[in-house]
Amino acid sequence: MPIHSMSASVDASPYSKDHPFPAKVTENRLLNKPGSAKETRHFVVSLAGSGLHYSAGDSLGVFPENRPGEVAEILQRLGATGAELVLPAMLKLAAPIALREALTTRLALAGPTAKIVGTLAAKATAPDEQAKLTGLLSPESKDLLAAFLDEREFVDLLADFPSAKLTPQEFVDHLRKLMPRLYSIASSPRVYPSDVHLTVAAVRYRTNERERAGVCSTFLADRVQVGTTPTRVFVSPSHFGPPEDGARDCIMVGPGTGIAPFRAFVQDRVASGATGRNWVFFGDQKAATDFLYQEEWAQYLAKGQVARLELAWSRDQFTKVYVQDKMRANAAELWAWLQGGAHFYVCGDAKRMAKDVDVALHDIVSVQGGMTPALAVDYVKQLKKEKRYQRDVY
Ligand SMILES: Cc1cc2nc3c(=O)[nH]c(=O)nc-3n(C[C@H](O)[C@H](O)[C@H](O)COP(=O)(O)OP(=O)(O)OC[C@H]3O[C@@H](n4cnc5c(N)ncnc54)[C@H](O)[C@@H]3O)c2cc1C
Ligand SMILES: NC(=O)c1ccc[n+]([C@@H]2O[C@H](COP(=O)([O-])OP(=O)(O)OC[C@H]3O[C@@H](n4cnc5c(N)ncnc54)[C@H](OP(=O)(O)O)[C@@H]3O)[C@@H](O)[C@H]2O)c1
Repeated sequence: MPIHSMSASVDASPYSKDHPFPAKVTENRLLNKPGSAKETRHFVVSLAGSGLHYSAGDSLGVFPENRPGEVAEILQRLGATGAELVLPAMLKLAAPIALREALTTRLALAGPTAKIVGTLAAKATAPDEQAKLTGLLSPESKDLLAAFLDEREFVDLLADFPSAKLTPQEFVDHLRKLMPRLYSIASSPRVYPSDVHLTVAAVRYRTNERERAGVCSTFLADRVQVGTTPTRVFVSPSHFGPPEDGARDCIMVGPGTGIAPFRAFVQDRVASGATGRNWVFFGDQKAATDFLYQEEWAQYLAKGQVARLELAWSRDQFTKVYVQDKMRANAAELWAWLQGGAHFYVCGDAKRMAKDVDVALHDIVSVQGGMTPALAVDYVKQLKKEKRYQRDVY
């Protein structure tokens, strides 16, 4: 079957983003070794019985639930039981729902805005709270307000200003909709037709002296019980995918969780008997603890199914080594692959990595191809036009 024709059968399933499938997570495994600073997990989600299909390069959408502890604290601070009926403005519901349900599955508890500060200022009765809120809202405190909000979630505001009594309805009207998160699928349907594999970094950090947890990554890591909790998912088809022509070479740059779709690409190409070569650039903090799917890469290399594997360990030495450094170190070879028709793929962090990899690609084209920077820009544009330079960055 041509690789991308499988996405079409997503339409045949009764399940979609608007009607997600209650899937079972059948595996949750830590990929990092003891001593790592990272927490990257491998999940297997069963699509059995859903009629859902996917292609290598697609993503899985997951609807998360908020942490029960955070919901309980909000209820306690609102003086509510959770049974109160609310009609949150953002949800456009036909009928009210219980406050606990709204806070658990429907509304985002992070990202407070100036609006709630204004509401609290109008309601606070304690003079010190009033003074603080008014100060934050003054025109000259714009930066202060932004920094204050950046450090806080909604629960912090209820804790900081207890004299401002909000009704459950008033509170939920300040919250945004809880959105699903996308995860690059790390498996090929040719190998796992009714399972989807994911590679997820658990987001955990501290602000305003509170432990924070990324909603969806820790929903999967901590709250979904393997084999039991129904987890609402949908397949999000993508234009990102391995070359239709299996004879084409592939260069895949995916540090951290960016490796996910390339595990899928390699599985897919091996299973389809693609004859093109695979060149993988992976990087993470430390070789000893953060070499995701190390055994699988070793096997692919041993069998010649991955021709080259370049590894960039950023924290194994004083000076950072990143995937783009490995690209530059292999510039002549990379250029030869591109000139031979290779496809170039990037997945992972959008803010820094993908930009730096793009700069490195332009530099390599310019130096190796003997082009001016302007001609290198044209060359890379042409790669994109031919869909030979594709990115899946977040
Ligand atoms: C197409 C696509 C594919 C993706 N594929 C993957 C994948 O394969 N694997 C994967 O792990 N992720 C992937 N992501 C990212 C994923 O969708 C989520 O964004 C990620 O898991 C975080 O979601 P969360 O709900 O856990 O965190 P959220 O609750 O959304 O929290 C994240 C937010 O927390 C804040 N934050 C995070 N760290 C800090 C900090 N140190 N200090 C202060 N604030 C901080 C930031 O505001 C950040 O935006 C992908 C995204 C897209 C769009
Ligand atoms: N806050 C941010 O700006 C930011 C950026 C990226 C990822 N994240 C979040 O961190 C979590 C984990 O992400 P992840 O596991 O996918 O890995 P990651 O944090 O993106 O890191 C993977 C590897 O990429 C390296 N790296 C950092 N900057 C780079 C750059 N400019 N160019 C190339 N490589 C670079 C990292 O090195 P070092 O860390 O040692 O520098 C690490 O070795 C995700 O939830 C993601 O959303 C946050």
